Amino acid sequence: MTISAIGSESAGPSGSSAHAGPTAGATGGHGAPDADGRVRAEGILARQRRRESSARTYARSLPIVPVHAEGMTVIGADGRRYLDCLSGAGTLALGHNHPVVHEAIRGLLHSGAPLHVLDLATPEKDAFTAELLSCLPGDLAASAKLHFCGPSGADAVEAALKLTQTVTGNDTLLAFTGGYHGMTAGALAVTGNVTIKERLRPVGTVVRLPYPYPYRCPFGVGATDGDCPDGARLSAQYIERLLDDPCGGVARPAAMIVEAVQGEGGVVPAPDDWLRAIRRITAERGIPLILDEVQTGVGRTGTFWAGEHSGIIPDVIVMSKAIGGGLPLAVIAYREELDGWAPGAHTGTFRGNQLAMAAGVATLRFVRSEALDLRAAEAGARMLADLRTIAAGRPCVGDVRGRGLMIGLEVVDPDAGPDALGARPADPHLAARVRAECLARGLIVELGGRHDAVVRLLPPLTITDAEADRVLAILADALTAAASPPR
Ligand SMILES: Cc1ncc(COP(=O)(O)O)c(C=O)c1O
Repeated sequence: MTISAIGSESAGPSGSSAHAGPTAGATGGHGAPDADGRVRAEGILARQRRRESSARTYARSLPIVPVHAEGMTVIGADGRRYLDCLSGAGTLALGHNHPVVHEAIRGLLHSGAPLHVLDLATPEKDAFTAELLSCLPGDLAASAKLHFCGPSGADAVEAALKLTQTVTGNDTLLAFTGGYHGMTAGALAVTGNVTIKERLRPVGTVVRLPYPYPYRCPFGVGATDGDCPDGARLSAQYIERLLDDPCGGVARPAAMIVEAVQGEGGVVPAPDDWLRAIRRITAERGIPLILDEVQTGVGRTGTFWAGEHSGIIPDVIVMSKAIGGGLPLAVIAYREELDGWAPGAHTGTFRGNQLAMAAGVATLRFVRSEALDLRAAEAGARMLADLRTIAAGRPCVGDVRGRGLMIGLEVVDPDAGPDALGARPADPHLAARVRAECLARGLIVELGGRHDAVVRLLPPLTITDAEADRVLAILADALTAAASPPR
């Protein structure tokens, strides 16, 4: 199967990937593509294109039909094998079908326990609650309140916004450039990306603040290859002065929402000093700080929560993705003193997913017992260093950055001139070619970032050194192929 054969909507090069051939050899020599499987996959993909909405996303750029998955490996209906560096958008901390997750799910199924109970108490929920609380940072572990939300990160963001607006009586929300918090109305309002919401009516009042982004510093200062200390310092100073300016146009805020590493925004880690300044500024002004750990949580960045790198303790933590062990689950944890909303203030039918709680407990325990956060730190540091070497000889890679196993390569136009900071313009078309060339070689990656030009790696925390090497080798190859398309 080739990319061009399976998806006319593929963003990749129409013919260039045809040379790649089966990936089976690339990932271990099993499962050569078979003709029946190819026909079956093509049929399923064609029906999907016909039947599903034009708003579908991953299905456009990754035209594969997964039928089997284990660890980091996904096998398509046509027998092709892929290394999965998307991990369900960061959900699968332990990779696909991890034995401890399977065992937990099977155990619950065989026990005869109800699978759906709204927000009633169950032994599974009790165990999940205890485990999650014990994972929380600082004093939150002892005293936080949890609220189980509808099972998506966006719904948990909505809950956090609603909670802080209710308790403070304020409407204004502070959010950051490049932030991503989900697709429901409130979550979208605090999200930075204007393209996805320009035809929608904004909800509430959101004041947008500058997030440090060394490569394309919002203040136009700082080195392009360093920590952007000047940009981060200016950001904190600007925020502090803006909030204290009686004519600054900012009404008393209900909350500030921030990611410690922006994921969809293009894998942009916040400097620790900046995050500490943000905590101080919000604490001194009585503004609840919401830390969105939907993507960064459960070891992904090299600590259990990404906020731990800086040592800050937020007032509200938003959690989803990995906490459910691959099944839908979303929770907010918040300081007890914020617990001032009324019964039923944030309800939803599917807040009692027992299978997700069982899978979640197993995942949280395994990440902790195996110190997979440290493994993410170590494997991520090695991959980052190797990627910087790979990028050094490739002008189409403008920046390599990340924290733990949340890694991004910003793809730029190598022929365009650099700006004052030395950054060339983002090149989303080239980035899409890189993604397609990766797929053709058996590597699943996605794009993100301000211009959809950041190739993002979100492998499972269980990635082996050999798998990491394989990922980097394919990526290096794909970069070369994408940068020199056939004439
Ligand atoms: C930081 C962050 N917050 C919220 C969300 C929304 O989560 P969901 O897609 O489950 O609604 C995401 C999704 O990627 C995210 O990365």
